[in-house]
Amino acid sequence: MEFKHRSVLLEETIDGLRIRPDGTYVDGTLGGGGHAYEICRRLSDKGSIVGIDQDEAAIEAAGIRLKDFGEKVTIVRRNYCDMKSVLHDLGIDRVDGIVLDLGVSSYQLDTAERGFSYREDAPLDMRMDRRQQMTARDIVNDYSERDLYRVIRDYGEDKFAKNIAKHIAAARAKRPIETTGELTEIIRESIPMKFQKMSGHPAKRTFQAIRIELNRELEVLKNSLDDMIDLLNPGGRLCIITFHSLEDRIVKSAFRKNEDPCTCPKDFPVCVCGKVSKGSIITRKPILPGEDELRENSRSKSAKLRIFERK
Ligand SMILES: C[S@@+](CC[C@H](N)C(=O)[O-])C[C@H]1O[C@@H](n2cnc3c(N)ncnc32)[C@H](O)[C@@H]1O
Repeated sequence: MEFKHRSVLLEETIDGLRIRPDGTYVDGTLGGGGHAYEICRRLSDKGSIVGIDQDEAAIEAAGIRLKDFGEKVTIVRRNYCDMKSVLHDLGIDRVDGIVLDLGVSSYQLDTAERGFSYREDAPLDMRMDRRQQMTARDIVNDYSERDLYRVIRDYGEDKFAKNIAKHIAAARAKRPIETTGELTEIIRESIPMKFQKMSGHPAKRTFQAIRIELNRELEVLKNSLDDMIDLLNPGGRLCIITFHSLEDRIVKSAFRKNEDPCTCPKDFPVCVCGKVSKGSIITRKPILPGEDELRENSRSKSAKLRIFERK
């Protein structure tokens, strides 16, 4: 299947990076290489980019897309939470800009056998990195009803989380739930008819929740942001595109903490905690897609771009 993915907030991200032609850049979520391609186009012979993705299909697609840029590009199949050690192994201590375009690509969503989509019937997989053993099937069949409830409530923010978890537990007691189609049907049965047409497909939130849990998406993001800011050269920028409020909240709060880390009580005349600001938030409010992009790419609907600049 052809790797199809339309990059979101492309121009805004590239502008936001303020690319230095001789600089070193990292794309931590390479995908089809859409953002990386535009970065490469702006680099001189001295400039370079490291592209990271944990998905073998993305690595292959980006390799093809970026092949004309030759040695400027290094592609690594890893989790972006390992960015510091990936760069260290390449002899790089600091970079001039980092991009994260979070979540899954359209290719991953549209490839039925990857098991991300509630619109297709396929084995329950949802792994971004298929070297990982655990799949969505394990979560759906092996998590306790209570843990399923927690995941669907916290990561799907679904008000029917309790009922969905209860229905899943009842269904799997008869026989294991194997496919996205079976799961979608169980979720549909858990949601009262009059709510089924509200706020998108009834299975959307539960699928999102299971995907986030399986790929540890929020944990990875939360644990990586400080490292990424530390990796930036003075004036270097971190641009992050998020797709739901849970991710956005994590980015917003990490940016705030790095801009103003002081923990002294407000009424102290001078700072005594010794924690110094690492830089400043460029986007007080997130940058959102314009009307044209929203019209042309429905996936951009929930996208938000936030930018931090290192001191
Ligand atoms: C939205 S797509 C990126 C698309 C890309 N910016 C483009 O324009 O083609 C997100 C990609 O990030 C990858 N990804 C998500 N979380 C990751 C992580 N923690 N480490 C490495 N790759 C990750 C996914 O496998 C997917 O290929």
